[in-house]
Amino acid sequence: MTKFIVIASSKGGVGKTTTAINLGTALTTFGKEVIVVDFNLTTPNLSLYLGAPVVPVTLNDVLNKGKKITDALYMHSMGLKIIPASQSLNDIGKVDYERLSRLIKSLSGMADYVIIDSSAGINDDSLNAMKVSDEVLVVSTPELPSVSDALRTIKKAKEHKKKVSGVILTRVYEDELELSKEDVETMLETPVIAIIPEDDSMRESVQMKSPVTHSHPNASASLGYKQLAAELLGEKYVESVEKEDNMFEFMMKKLGLK
Ligand SMILES: Nc1ncnc2c1ncn2[C@@H]1O[C@H](COP(=O)(O)OP(=O)(O)OP(=O)(O)O)[C@@H](O)[C@H]1O
Ligand SMILES: [Mg+2]
Repeated sequence: MTKFIVIASSKGGVGKTTTAINLGTALTTFGKEVIVVDFNLTTPNLSLYLGAPVVPVTLNDVLNKGKKITDALYMHSMGLKIIPASQSLNDIGKVDYERLSRLIKSLSGMADYVIIDSSAGINDDSLNAMKVSDEVLVVSTPELPSVSDALRTIKKAKEHKKKVSGVILTRVYEDELELSKEDVETMLETPVIAIIPEDDSMRESVQMKSPVTHSHPNASASLGYKQLAAELLGEKYVESVEKEDNMFEFMMKKLGLK
């Protein structure tokens, strides 16, 4: 059965799109079929992160030009399927959300997971992204303004009787300037199910137009996303990544002794 999960937060720039892409990629490494949908019809950027800025058919064309949803479904080289929204301002029109929801639901049976990248704010895009989903994953950084916006998102989800599966804390430095995991759980009355460290590899991966889980599989953020995928699947995550050489092995190699 296909699970529809929205990655949500009313706060902008906290890592929703990054999470949608990297959770999606991590789930594919566990053998799952995943479709990531860009539900940001006014400020889309999923395809920019993945190096597919111009595609023949977008979600907007499906809505406004009678194209089929499968025409806007692209296989990314990472094994992930994506449905991008249009980058063109000309394609922003009045959105028939009931039809959009039906179209998204028609993806049922085509993947194990449909991950919906939601927009910031509490608006028609974000509320409809929530309505079409079975579960809500809330993204927040460990700072008060971000947590306070996460709380609004959780309240909205509860109003719509949606299951909030947990909070993903992103861009975590683990220093004394930020809120702790326990603080966030108390404030949101919701468990934190993943901690994604602030990671410089993220900037490189954006520049490489690749999910960090793929371009930098050993990076701390990548491990966080793989652990999150395992948690959602109810599996134990065993770190199977290539271990860096320890100093002894490094020296042996340098000396040509290994
Ligand atoms: N763990 C991380 N470490 C470092 N940088 C990160 C991390 N997570 C996200 N970023 C960076 O933060 C910025 C915002 O991320 P992203 O676009 O995913 O946020 P968003 O919530 O989707 O934003 P919007 O609300 O505009 O849609 C990007 O530059 C991204 O590379
Ligand atoms: Mg985004």
